[in-house]
Formats: sequence, C-alpha cells, structure tokens
Amino acid sequence: VALLSECPLGDLLAQAGTPTPAYVYDLDALSLAGRLLESSFGGARHLAAYAMKANSAGSILKRLLAEGLGVDVVSGAELELALAAGAPPERIVMSGVAKADWELDLALSRGIKAVHAESVEELERLEARARAASRSARVALRVNPGVEIDSHAHVATGHDAAKFGVHRDDLAAAFARIDASPTLEAVGLSAHVGSMLSKPEPYVASARRLCDQARARLAAGGRLEYIDFGGGFGIDYGGGAPAAPGAFVESALALLAEVGLSHLELVIEPGRSLVGSFGVLVASVIQSKVSGPRRWLLIDAGMNDLIRPALYGAKHRIEPLDRAPAGTTYRVAGPICESTDDFGEHEMADAVPSHVVIRDAGAYGFVMASEYNGRPLPAEIFVSGGRVVSVSASPGREAWIRRRLEA
Ligand SMILES: Cc1ncc(COP(=O)(O)O)c(C=O)c1O
Repeated sequence: VALLSECPLGDLLAQAGTPTPAYVYDLDALSLAGRLLESSFGGARHLAAYAMKANSAGSILKRLLAEGLGVDVVSGAELELALAAGAPPERIVMSGVAKADWELDLALSRGIKAVHAESVEELERLEARARAASRSARVALRVNPGVEIDSHAHVATGHDAAKFGVHRDDLAAAFARIDASPTLEAVGLSAHVGSMLSKPEPYVASARRLCDQARARLAAGGRLEYIDFGGGFGIDYGGGAPAAPGAFVESALALLAEVGLSHLELVIEPGRSLVGSFGVLVASVIQSKVSGPRRWLLIDAGMNDLIRPALYGAKHRIEPLDRAPAGTTYRVAGPICESTDDFGEHEMADAVPSHVVIRDAGAYGFVMASEYNGRPLPAEIFVSGGRVVSVSASPGREAWIRRRLEA
C-alpha cells in the first residue's frame, strides 16, 4: 500500500492552508489496510480491535470501523471517543493496568465486550463497582505471558518484570475470584507480548502459552468466549518489511486449530500496523548550521510533535519534500531545548530543502505530542481520493499563552 501515491504532498499542504508542522494521513490507504486485515480471517469468528492509542483521530476511527474492525481502548476518554465515533459497545474491549473507578463505571454502564483485568486486585475493585451499580461485569483476564521479545525494552510488555497483566502463577486465584462472584463473568483470556514484532514466532510463543491457560480453564469446567492474542505487528521504518498482519492472523488461526481451540472467537489488538505507514509529519526547515564536522538541518518539528526517536531511539526516514535525496548528509534536529530532540542523520538534496517529510509517523505520533517549550500541538490533515477532506488545525500559540497565563 503506497502512501499518498497520487498526491504531491506540497499541493496537499497548500490545499490545507495550515502551517507546519503538520501530520498528513492517507485515509484510503489505511482503509485498505483494515480491509486486508479483515479478509485474512477467512470465515473464522473474530474481532480485530483497533488499538486506538496508536492514533485516535475520529476520521481514522470511522474508516476502520467501516471496514468491520472493533476497538481496543485504554482509558475512559478513549472509550467515550470510540462510542461517539460509532463503535458498537459489544465490539470494544478495555485494557489498562490502572483503570480509575469512573473508567470501570463507564465500561460497565456502556456494556462493552469486556474489561481486561490486569490483576486480582483490579477484580476486587471491578466487583465492588459492579455491585454498587447492580450490574454484572464481563471480564477477560490479561495474562502476562512471560515471553521476551527482540524489541526495544520500552515496547516489550509480556516479560516477567513488566507491570502489565496477571502473572501466570496468580491466574488460578484470579479465576477463583471471578467464579466466586455473583457479579463477575469470565468471558476471555488476553495477552499482549509487545510491539514492533517483525515475524509471527514471538507472537505465537505468547499465544501458545495463552492457549495452555485457556485449555486448563476449559478442562476445569470454566467457560470462555474468546481468546485475545494482542497486537504488536511491526511496520517498515526503512529497515526492511516485517511480516504482514495477515501472516500473524494466519499463524494465530493455525495455532488455534492445532490446540483444538478453533471454537473460540479470535480477538487481536493491532494498532501501529493499521496506521503507522499511512501518515507523515511535514516540517519546514528553519535553517542549516555547520558546527565542527557536523551539518545540522534544523526544522520546526521537534520531539514534542514526534517523540518516538527521543523515547525509543526510533529512526524515521526523513526526505526533502520536493526533490530526491542525494549528496549531502545532515543531522536533522528540532527546536526543543533537549539533546534528545534529534532525528538522526539523513541524506538530503545538495541544496538545503525548504521542507522535509518524516515518514511512517501515522502511529504513536500525534497522540504522544505535547506542548513542551510552548509549542502548540501540530495540525493534522486528512486525505482521501487525492485531496484534503478535513483539517484539524493546531490550537495555536495564543491558546497556549492564554492557558498558561491563567494557570
Ligand atoms: C494491550 C495492548 N494491545 C495492543 C497494543 C497495540 O500494539 P501495536 O500498536 O504495536 O499493534 C498495545 C500497545 O501498546 C497494547 O498495550
């Protein structure tokens, strides 16, 4: 799927009429990614719950909902947004290691598919909230699968030292707690081993452990409706194409067949793979700077707009907007007063470009943006059919000044 294949980015920026920095998303491309993912399940009963933390823009949510996906939310605000965008409650699951009481109340009152509980202690709280509201609570246990993956430590979530999930040794106690409760109903088991997986093997290793737990639960006479292997499918940031999301789904379905669990609904929680490649961040070049042996290209987008390089040491491809990169290597950095506001070395055209494009910024980009250093949140431009269909403008610096003055 080619990003913005038919539309010169410069024209789109001019159409949108917003200043940089600005994210630009190809809605058609991400619709197609959603459609391809849905088709990879064949006839199997499933829910592909889009992990909207990756990008919560309403038009992106609506596109993926239209392709038949559900939603994985991690906060009360995300839940309200998903519902407002038209997600049916029974196609929403809620993860999160520390859900506040009001968030549990909201999940219960809206009747979502299940709350994914991450500790025995959370079960106690969920039961109390359900009892107080005279409701029953559909709950799935998020299990820490105890699997190490070859990803940056900050995106590995399924190992023993992680804060996420119910530890395997506590699973029996967690099920016992649910079974002893007249208000809690166990409907699923879930795991999420981490992000940026390049091949299905670690995903399957985690899924296999979850299947063992599911089989034990069923053998003990318990009931389960679904099994959720999580998300984590990687995208190509320039280092090579990982396995496609469909390959992960195929492996998951094959595993379920192998272990005799094909009767369970298969839930997955992909985020990055549905949006990451279909968004770019466009920045203006403020100036170049030659300092000792280094040539810097200083741009108006910083770690406040795209924090992945500073947070995870991620490298995004950066290219001049209007010409092929060739000849000169620049170290690209933003305006923020932090040494980590640095996007690494990139080949540019010989002449200093007026704008650059930071590629593969559709996931964990805008959603992690901040106003650090008095830099307002960036604009977002949504493209479909080769033209701009909507723009979410930056709140602007005046709004920031007013709010901070009143603080
Ligand atoms: C519970 C859970 N599910 C799904 C995801 C989505 O992961 P990805 O965007 O890598 O697919 C995450 C990411 O942090 C997560 O924590």
